[in-house]
Amino acid sequence: MTSSISVSGADPRTQKVDTLALGVPEGEATVGLCGELLGAIPGGRAEVKRQGFTGQAGQVFESLAAGAAKAARLVLIGLGPGEELDGPAWRRFAAEAARRAAAVQATTLAVVMPAETARPDDDASVAHPIAQGVVLGGYRFERYKTGDRAASRSLRRVVLLTPGRVTAKQKADADLGRRVAAAVCRARDLINTAPNDLYPEAMADYARSMAKEYKDRGLTCRVLKHGQLLTKGMNLIDAVGRGSARKPVLIHLQYKPKTRKGAGLKRLVFVGKGVTFDTGGICIKPAPGMEEMKGDMGGAANTIALMAAVAETMPEAEVHGIVGSAENMPDGDAYRPGDIFRSYSGKTVEVINTDAEGRLVLADALHYATELEPDFIMDNATLTGAMVVSLGMTYSGFFSNREELAEALQAASVRAGERLWHLPLIEELREKLQSKWADLKHVGDRWGGAITAALFLQEFVGDIPWIHVDVAGPSMASKDYDIYTRGGTGQGVLTYLELIEHLIQT
Ligand code: BES
Ligand code: MN
Ligand code: ZN
Repeated sequence: MTSSISVSGADPRTQKVDTLALGVPEGEATVGLCGELLGAIPGGRAEVKRQGFTGQAGQVFESLAAGAAKAARLVLIGLGPGEELDGPAWRRFAAEAARRAAAVQATTLAVVMPAETARPDDDASVAHPIAQGVVLGGYRFERYKTGDRAASRSLRRVVLLTPGRVTAKQKADADLGRRVAAAVCRARDLINTAPNDLYPEAMADYARSMAKEYKDRGLTCRVLKHGQLLTKGMNLIDAVGRGSARKPVLIHLQYKPKTRKGAGLKRLVFVGKGVTFDTGGICIKPAPGMEEMKGDMGGAANTIALMAAVAETMPEAEVHGIVGSAENMPDGDAYRPGDIFRSYSGKTVEVINTDAEGRLVLADALHYATELEPDFIMDNATLTGAMVVSLGMTYSGFFSNREELAEALQAASVRAGERLWHLPLIEELREKLQSKWADLKHVGDRWGGAITAALFLQEFVGDIPWIHVDVAGPSMASKDYDIYTRGGTGQGVLTYLELIEHLIQT
């Protein structure tokens, strides 16, 4: 993990670093600092021309600096059209810079920032998204790598170079950006951790120790262990966890701001699906790719990471993070199709397919959330393969019982530069959840599978303003892209932070 990010007004050419990274707007490879550096590298301009590097978004040109600068290597990164450069574009640029640096095991990196006027739309310094990008792009997960397979060196010093005078605001924003991105990396760590190490009680331990770390910033944690789930009547979470030797839990993180108390403070609740491994249970999944189901706690990981980010940014709202966690295993005591359980809400639910376990865990966790009488509930879950069929691997789809909330989340996703898309709660599909025996069954048919899952969840939130985000596609990445690295992504957390800011203001 990048340990230090500083801001300096020094000339990029004077920086003795392993990698010097420069963003190049489209059509500007031959002018300004880029043109000068290339001119000073023997054959530099000709090579850039040969490779067709013009500064298009996604293009990268790498070279030894060859005396053109004190740095060992030079990385030029295409930014695309100069007029369109917003925070997310600078974040992506910095992520690519860090990724390229990490790929050659650089330990020091200098990133050239634009003049602050290049981003007039926002009062935050561009140092904020750039610092985030550096941390997110430079992320590596090496817990299980030993000997030669572990990277022997990692990025430890990063300097952001500003063409103007260094301001206190830039330094503070770079630091905040680094800390928020480190919070997002918690989601990645949790997702990437092997399921034998990350089981429900292990996730609860993680949340508990995280809350301890952030005690002074208003974070607390309460864990309902298996026995308490049973006494409270959270029979759906219990049902899903029944086949596993690892006991299910409910994790409740809470952030209370220190500066203001009581009236007027919004109460916002985030709920995550924490299925630490999803075999499908008795309706067992096919073996190929089943190892990916260690990531079935991606919604929980996002929720926990968001709570860390909230502790870092300390918004003026009461924020709760609730995780229902269980391992879905086949076993002699596992739940089965045909079983009927009384949910925590009191509604009875007929189980159709034990592989649709996420919505059961969430149903009890959502009802627990409603008991807090919040102004807003959002849940995050790797809920359906149907969502991956709809939107592919890079977009999350979301549903809401309030049109204005859906619009607010869509707008927040644009500000955060993350890929989320609004889908409809189609009422006429609700009849598919009618059960012959119980109040509800938990699965419809194949068609509109992500929507019927959302409709099922809606049964457990009453009329509280609510958003459900199905992160099944982008929660894990099969390759590096944008600000994400292969494996767990934490996609969504930056958007939810933006949404919290919006909800406080309205
Ligand atoms: N965890 C899966 C959904 C999933 C699929 C997440 C692919 C990430 C990638 C979920 O528990 C599941 O198995 N859903 C079933 C529901 C079906 C049985 C109604 C599905 O989508 O097939
Ligand atoms: Mn499943
Ligand atoms: Zn699942």
